[in-house]
Amino acid sequence: MSRITLTTAVVVALGLLAPSLAAADAAAGKAFWMANHSGGKPDTPSCTTCHTNDPTKAGQTRAGKAIDPMAVSVQPDRFTDPAKVEKWFGRNCNSVLGRDCTATEKADVLEYLKSI
Ligand code: HEC
Repeated sequence: MSRITLTTAVVVALGLLAPSLAAADAAAGKAFWMANHSGGKPDTPSCTTCHTNDPTKAGQTRAGKAIDPMAVSVQPDRFTDPAKVEKWFGRNCNSVLGRDCTATEKADVLEYLKSI
């Protein structure tokens, strides 16, 4: 491969990679996770309402049932079943925000919970 072809290939590859790298932002995911949102149910303003503000610790449902920690480092089976992930994003985003989470919000939250 000539130098020019190789350079072109690298530039094209970086161009393809860049959007997916930019899409998952752990800091943005943390901010979203910790924030108080409006639009949802008044008794669940935040993801932390049930999951606590320390994802390495167990959370609690409104009914007082324990929820395993969300941090993958202490709960390795987290986010391994795509159907479960989508089901709960659907339920919980609507409880907290009164709408579905966007693809970016979901990617950022998962990146955050995988990073700690
Ligand atoms: C009303 C309580 C409650 C609130 C508020 C809540 N969750 Fe959950 N969440 C649960 C419960 C209960 C489960 C299912 C039990 C489990 O996975 O341990 C769950 C599971 C999940 C899962 C699936 C985890 C997996 O292993 O697949 C994701 C993703 C999730 N929640 C994200 C969120 C996000 C994002 C928010 C904030 C927008 C949020 N949750 C707010 C109660 C809540």
